[in-house]
Amino acid sequence: MTSLSNEHLRTLVQPDRVHRDFYIDPDVFDLEMDRIFGKIWLFVGHTSQVPNPGDYITTTVARQPVIMSRHRDGEVHVMFNRCTHRGAQVCLEQFGNTKRFECPYHAWVFHTDGRFAGAPYPKGYEDGFLKKEKLDLVKLPRTEIYRGFVFSSLSTDGPEVDEFLGPMKDHIDAFCDRAPDGEVEACAGMFRYRYAGNWKLQMENQTDVYHIMFTHVSTTDDDGKQFRREGAEEDEAGKVKVLADNQSLSEQWEELPLGGHRHGHVFMGRFAMDKANQGPVYDRYKAAMEESYGDQAEENMTVRTHNSIFYPHWSIQHLTQHIRVMNPISVDCTENVIIPLKLKGAPEEMWQASLRSNNNSHSPSGMVMSDDMEVWVRCHEGLKTQSTDWVVLARGMDEKYSGDNQGSYDSKGTSESGARNQQLAWVDLMCGES
Ligand code: FES
Ligand SMILES: [Fe+2]
Repeated sequence: MTSLSNEHLRTLVQPDRVHRDFYIDPDVFDLEMDRIFGKIWLFVGHTSQVPNPGDYITTTVARQPVIMSRHRDGEVHVMFNRCTHRGAQVCLEQFGNTKRFECPYHAWVFHTDGRFAGAPYPKGYEDGFLKKEKLDLVKLPRTEIYRGFVFSSLSTDGPEVDEFLGPMKDHIDAFCDRAPDGEVEACAGMFRYRYAGNWKLQMENQTDVYHIMFTHVSTTDDDGKQFRREGAEEDEAGKVKVLADNQSLSEQWEELPLGGHRHGHVFMGRFAMDKANQGPVYDRYKAAMEESYGDQAEENMTVRTHNSIFYPHWSIQHLTQHIRVMNPISVDCTENVIIPLKLKGAPEEMWQASLRSNNNSHSPSGMVMSDDMEVWVRCHEGLKTQSTDWVVLARGMDEKYSGDNQGSYDSKGTSESGARNQQLAWVDLMCGES
């Protein structure tokens, strides 16, 4: 284990800047896996990914292979994907349905709730050994489910999931309450891909309004072309033109509400440019919502946040309707899992439209995601150079926060307040103060 001192870790995060080692030092990464990912609540999956008895998915929690399964009594279990005989992963399929898990090595068998069910040639063991030994698949120390969202922690200590999520539970509620049936459903599989960069580059990017009109010029600007690689142009007077001088659009971005809470959770409000819904499909949705929620329907249908970013590694994208999970693989490699979510009880056409939107924006070749991945990789490569050591995050430093910026706060526009809030949580966790 690394010998990085708390004093050293604290110097990496300054009020308006962070040291490049924050992103690129493998020792920092190892410590993050222990002190952040090894301690707090992580997103595992959604119960609708395993709707029937015997259904399972395999995934990772803080790089540990796990199985999430639904047993025949309907309970959902999260257990390490590690045979209790000699350690083989018992299941490698990404999802499926099974009566029991059978290890491929010596065919030990486990029930879908993890209980040991038997081993071949039991006579080879001393009398009673297979009964008295603890041979069940090992469950993760803590697992909790909130409205179908499954969380696990690798630690037996720490705040309960309710306290950890805090006001961010309202964001999960708001998402589920947009469904006439009050539930969301992950029934379209997922995108899963990797980029060659640190996990925090993406976490910070999701609360970064400043980049949208430049990185995504092909999506936000009719004249844009995907990823400009040429130098900025000059005007007739020879002055360098800065992109996105579209005044009305810039003003909209600057007014976008931002906010955050304790434990590093942050969110972005809704873009004013989002088009109002209308038409026969929307009318059917509205009727279904009114039937379910009565006077509350309109309130529930109103999307107030663009995204909700739950520290340290997942988010809800409310408009495109997906969960995004960022699984750190190594200091310079991150796995992205994009899980589209259906609003149960809403018209099928709405679901198909949201799937098309996810394909266009957040599939590996989607217009938005490919722009972002390009810049994260460029950041990671750039930070390895022996240039200046510091990454500047000084936008919006004149905003006033209550206390130490670890309570709830409001901010807006292109402020870098979201990244700073995440970094403060990082210091607390890394130095054992959260
Ligand atoms: S390692 Fe699984 S049965 Fe031997
Ligand atoms: Fe982006």
